[in-house]
Amino acid sequence: MNLDRALQIVQTQYGITGTIQLLYGEVDYNFLLTSDDQQYTLKISRAHPNKDLLDLQNQALIHLEQKNTSLEYPYVIKNKDGQYLGWHGDHAVRLLKWIPGRLWSQLSTHTPKLLHGLGTVCGQTTLALQGFDHPHAHRFFKWDNQRFEWIEEHLEKLQTKEQKKLFQHFLSLIKKEALPHFASLRKSIVHNDANDNNIIVNEDRFDPKVSTLIDFGDIIYTYTINELAIALAYAIMEKPDPLAAAIPLVKGFHAVLPLREIELKVLYHLVAIRLLISLTNAAINRLEEPENEYHFVSEKMAWDLLAKWAAVDSNFAYYSFRAACGLEAHPKAKAFHDWAKQQEFAPIIGESFDKTPYLHLDLRVGGRDLANNSHFESIGPFTKKINRVLEDAEVEIGIGGYGEIRPVYTTDAYQIMGNEGPQWRTMHIGLDIWMKSGMPIFTPLDGIVESIQDNAADRDYGPTLIVKHETADFLFYTLYGHIGAEVLENLKVGQKIPKGQQIATIGVPPRNGNWPPHLHFQIMLDLLGNEGDFPGVAFPHEKDVWLSVCPDPNLLVGIPQLEDRNEILADHLIHQRRSSLGKSLSISYNQPLHVVRGFKQYLYTTNGRRYLDTVNNVAHVGHEHPKVVKAAQQQIGLLNTNSRYLHQNIIVFAEALLATFPPELCVVHFVNSGSEANELAMRMAHTWSGHRDMIGVEVGYHGNTIGTVDVSSYKFDGKGGQGAPSHTQVVPIPDSYRGKYRGEDTGAAYAKHVEEAIHDIQQEGRNVAGFICESVLSCGGQVVLPKGYLAKAYEYVRSAGGLCIADEVQVGFGRVGSHFWGFELQGVIPDVVTMGKPIGNGHPLAAVVCTRAVADAFANGMEYFNTFGGNPVSSIIGKTVLEIIREEGLQENALQVGAYLRTNLLQLQSKFPIIGDIRGPGLFQGIELVNDPNTLEPATKEAAFIANQMRQYGVLMSTDGPFYNILKIKPPMCFHRRNVDLMIGLLEKTLKILE
Ligand SMILES: Cc1ncc(COP(=O)(O)O)c(C=O)c1O
Repeated sequence: MNLDRALQIVQTQYGITGTIQLLYGEVDYNFLLTSDDQQYTLKISRAHPNKDLLDLQNQALIHLEQKNTSLEYPYVIKNKDGQYLGWHGDHAVRLLKWIPGRLWSQLSTHTPKLLHGLGTVCGQTTLALQGFDHPHAHRFFKWDNQRFEWIEEHLEKLQTKEQKKLFQHFLSLIKKEALPHFASLRKSIVHNDANDNNIIVNEDRFDPKVSTLIDFGDIIYTYTINELAIALAYAIMEKPDPLAAAIPLVKGFHAVLPLREIELKVLYHLVAIRLLISLTNAAINRLEEPENEYHFVSEKMAWDLLAKWAAVDSNFAYYSFRAACGLEAHPKAKAFHDWAKQQEFAPIIGESFDKTPYLHLDLRVGGRDLANNSHFESIGPFTKKINRVLEDAEVEIGIGGYGEIRPVYTTDAYQIMGNEGPQWRTMHIGLDIWMKSGMPIFTPLDGIVESIQDNAADRDYGPTLIVKHETADFLFYTLYGHIGAEVLENLKVGQKIPKGQQIATIGVPPRNGNWPPHLHFQIMLDLLGNEGDFPGVAFPHEKDVWLSVCPDPNLLVGIPQLEDRNEILADHLIHQRRSSLGKSLSISYNQPLHVVRGFKQYLYTTNGRRYLDTVNNVAHVGHEHPKVVKAAQQQIGLLNTNSRYLHQNIIVFAEALLATFPPELCVVHFVNSGSEANELAMRMAHTWSGHRDMIGVEVGYHGNTIGTVDVSSYKFDGKGGQGAPSHTQVVPIPDSYRGKYRGEDTGAAYAKHVEEAIHDIQQEGRNVAGFICESVLSCGGQVVLPKGYLAKAYEYVRSAGGLCIADEVQVGFGRVGSHFWGFELQGVIPDVVTMGKPIGNGHPLAAVVCTRAVADAFANGMEYFNTFGGNPVSSIIGKTVLEIIREEGLQENALQVGAYLRTNLLQLQSKFPIIGDIRGPGLFQGIELVNDPNTLEPATKEAAFIANQMRQYGVLMSTDGPFYNILKIKPPMCFHRRNVDLMIGLLEKTLKILE
């Protein structure tokens, strides 16, 4: 069928003219027809099509049109004869409304929001089709889940033994668990094919929405729930965690068309059935058309999903679907709770908690009992810390932990890649009882040993005992973990254990795992296919399911008073912040983060998610470095006062700091913030020169005080600003990528503007006090100064009698890798250097280092007093930071990891044209995003989208520059190669979304 013929057909039958384009079609010819004012799909069938099926499709679409739902479907259009179906010889001709947008398959990522939207659209379509009927919808159809049994005779066509095994696993599971329920499922006509190429998504790149379903060729009368099962089978393919991807889809569907309990029970199996049917078809096709590569790509994805689906326990999926629909996840959870409330249990530690002093430990992410990650990184300090906390409270027993989200499990070893970036099982679902090794444990109630297994070797937590209990209504299990090895000898599977009998003791580390001695006690309403062991921690996003399957162990233990420890909700904090803090304070990200812990290059939120911090150059040696914490804690308990008394700390720190500078820079004044440092530096310039006029760089930022804002074009030329004050001259930003002069060797040209600025000041009868410039421009967008810029600029300033101030607040302390100070990259020696942020690793500390001559000139008789500057606490912190930089080789790390980062970023740049420029030394780099490499149109919206999406993926990034189109990378200096790999991988994923 050529285009001219097709055009002729529409013209004759519909009286429509326009342009035409061939589209993909498996069997029929499909064309996109564009007339003056509309677009259509022209469908011309192969010869002798199934008329009944065409009629069914047409009638369904007419039905949907009459229903007038909020969705648009590809409605059928009547021809000149008033018919929905026309003929061209033996070929059927239909004209449908064109649905603009993209196919689901064209999107690289499907966010939970998009999956939810798909569920909604499938639910709406299924709801709208209810009440519609047609004789042909009741035909036998091999893609109908309810007819799945035909696949069994093709089992031999599968290629490998593993594939056959997997098939058989599912077939027997389906027959055992689902088939008996099929007769009770409600039925209706459904679309039955919400696959990637039948879902239309709108064109919004930043916030895509599912608009509708197309292609009603597989429409059939079947179990209503099949619509959802089929949508799931495709939508959760290629997702690291298919169950997590399924949940928003189920929620979306349920919100429109409420699901029934019996449907939730078999949904898992029906998803599997669709995969089995699809794979059987693929196996048949493979034999018939072995060279058709297309079949094999989708086949592999379906096999991968089937294997992952097999790893999901069918009951766990059922409970998760129940929770997604707002039901209690485990159907017996309430019955268990009611039953337990009426029982009397024997005390698990031999005596009642009423009589035993104990402490409710707080091991939450933001809990103070393990307030630094160094407390639990290895078993020695961990045990000491727990013992100390108990000792301080003068008790021998610590308890707690049910539902507690803990930082303990957030190391690389526990990291799993989820659909939305890395994730950790951080929620503890048992109750911990911390006691001395060897203390006896008793059973609270009668039971039978279900399993006793040594998990010491492979899982690092020693023997685990699981005991089965039976009530009239349900079964449940109790688990005892981290217990003494003697149980392996003492207990046998099947052995009856009477209530109140001693069954175990608290184990001895490390035989019972790398944990301080304690009992892990847990209740399970379902073993979820586990044997001899059971997870003791869970993903916080599955909280509702796990806490329902594993009810509160305290129902059996009976600890009288457990403090309620609900986390403050982020929304509440936002509200409080709004009412009590100034409006001009901003919060990062569309979805603000509630951070309660930091360690090394990571920040942790209350839900135990560990975020990779690529932004925070203040936590220079790593968030909450134990050595800094310890130094500060010790000194603050001893003395903290001002520098009018003699104290060694200030001297030791001053000497250590000055040793990092060239000999000319030999005097230091300590202050408390970068703003204060620049303020003092400018006072020095005023005193030195006798003038007040300053020269600053376009988009420069130097602080939040009146004086520093006056030299910060970033502020006075930005929102709310009123332009440069009369005593400030702004010189062009020396940006060789998008600035006034571009390319190599622009240093002299840019510096010339400094000379002009001096000239302008002098023209007014005044003279220059100083020139302030960052050594690498941060707010300006990670701009590297062109070669020779500072040397030339300093020459002009000095010859006019002004001072040259290098602002190192962002870039100092080894961050640039090749040197300790940024100004060294330019081969200059400033008169004054200001520093802040990293100097105290988060403690409010800053400094001004200058030449002896400048310091002497400044000391004109007026005392310089600073209440907090250089106090013993700040000084010891500053000194410790310098020590750590040296001891841990952080400058060298910045050089090495920075080079690795740059190589990776350049590779990314070669794949994504939106990346216009990669720049910056060491661990101070920038990615400039542009929509057009010729005009350099800034990709501002895209940059904001990327920062927000990366935050969703667990990587913190920020944007800056005059157009906020530069992603800044300036992480804590302990950032390592694996961090780079993670960041680059997720950045690539994010950039693909925007393509
Ligand atoms: C280059 C530069 N100078 C000075 C400051 C001001 O420092 P502080 O916020 O500690 O007052 C900042 C802060 O962002 C800065 O980036």
